[in-house]
Amino acid sequence: MSNENGFLPIDKTYGTRAMNVGSEAEQWNSLAIVPPITLSAVFKQKASGEPQEFLYGRLGNPSRQCLERCLADLEGGKYAFCFASGLGALNSLMTMLRSGDHILCGDLIYGGSSELINNITVRAGVEATYVDTEDLTNVEKAVRPNTKLIFLESPTNPTLKVTDLEKIAKFAKSKNLITCVDNTFLTSYFQKPLNFGIDIVMHSCTKYINGHSDVTMGVLITNCDKISKDLALIQGVGGSVPSPFDCFLVTRSLKTLALRMEAHQKNGFAVAKFLEKHPLVEKVIHPGLPSHPQFEITKKQTSGHSGIVCFYIKGAKEAHTKKFLSSLKMFVLGGSIGGLKGLAESPAHISHRQLPAEEKLRVGITDNCIRLSVGIELVDELIEDIDQALKAAFE
Ligand SMILES: Cc1ncc(COP(=O)(O)O)c(C=O)c1O
Repeated sequence: MSNENGFLPIDKTYGTRAMNVGSEAEQWNSLAIVPPITLSAVFKQKASGEPQEFLYGRLGNPSRQCLERCLADLEGGKYAFCFASGLGALNSLMTMLRSGDHILCGDLIYGGSSELINNITVRAGVEATYVDTEDLTNVEKAVRPNTKLIFLESPTNPTLKVTDLEKIAKFAKSKNLITCVDNTFLTSYFQKPLNFGIDIVMHSCTKYINGHSDVTMGVLITNCDKISKDLALIQGVGGSVPSPFDCFLVTRSLKTLALRMEAHQKNGFAVAKFLEKHPLVEKVIHPGLPSHPQFEITKKQTSGHSGIVCFYIKGAKEAHTKKFLSSLKMFVLGGSIGGLKGLAESPAHISHRQLPAEEKLRVGITDNCIRLSVGIELVDELIEDIDQALKAAFE
C-alpha cells in the first residue's frame, strides 16, 4: 500500500534493526544469538559505592535493557522505558504532572485510558479536558495557562480519526507544552510521531508490538534528555516494571513485527474494501481508504495501516450487532487488538463501555459500531466469515 498510494516510504532497515539492536551476541560471554533471560533481582557489586550498570532488578535488568534499546531505536528515539502494562506506562506519564496542572486529551482514546485519567489523575488534583484534536482550533481554544501536556491517539480507538501530528507538535512547542501520542494502533513500523516533533510516544506493547496475546506491557519513548530523567526516576521508584521473562518474549516478538504488520495491513485492507461494498454495511472506516476524511494527512505521516477496521452494520440495531458477533466463527469476540488471531468487538459494550451514553453517541460509538482487529489468517476465510455473520445477523 505504502509507496504506490502515496504514503510515506516504508522504513527499509526496520526488520534488520528489530533483529539486531539490543540483541548483539557480543554482549554475552556465551555469544548467545538469542538474549538470555536474566531473572536475578540482585546484582553483585564489585566494590561498595562504585556505580555499576545493574544493581537491583526494579532499577534495571539486562533483559529489559535489550528490549528498551530495540524499542527506542525502532521508534527513532534515544530512550525507552518499559512498564508492566500500557496503562502502567500512561499512569507513570501522568505522575510527571502536579496538582493544579491541566492536560488536554484527545476526545477519543482507549476507554481504560480515560478511566485512568478521570479517576486517578484527576483525583490527584490535575484537571483534564477532552477535545477533538483533528481540528487544531479546538486545541488552541482549550489550552489554559496551567496546561502542561497534550495526550492523544492517532488513529483513534475505535473510530480511527487522524490528527495532524506535525501541526499539533508545532503548536505545543510554541506554548511550551509536552506532547504524548499513543502509537499502539500503528507501531513504529507505520508511524514515528517523534519524527514530527512529538515529545513522547506511548505503546501498549500488549497489542501489535508483542502480537502473540501472551504479554501485558507498556512503553514510553522519548528523545528528550530532560523528560528521560523524569521517566527513569518514575520507572525505577514508581516500580511498575515488567518481568524479565516478559521482556524476553517481547524482544523475540519484535523480530517479526515488520512481517506481522505487513500481513495485518494486507488483510485489514482487503476486509475494509470488502465491507465497503457490502449491502448490509452502512459505513467503513479505514485510514488507508480514499473515503477516509483524513486520508491526505494519513499519507503525509504514516507509511501504512494496521489490521484495525471499524464499520457500522446497517440498521443501527443492537440485536444485529449481537447476532453478528455471536455468528463469527474465525474472529474471536474479544476486547483487544493486535494479536495474530482476528478479534471482533462492539466498542459500545466492551472497550469503551466506560464512556457516558451521550459521549459515546457524540464520538460515533453507536450500538451498530464494530471494531475488527484483522488477524493474519488466510484473508479469504476471514472475509467469508464476516459475510456469513452479516447475513446471519439479518436472518
Ligand atoms: C490504544 C490503547 N492504548 C492503551 C491501552 C492500554 O494498554 P494495556 O492493556 O497494555 O494496559 C490499550 C488497551 O486496549 C489500547 O487499546
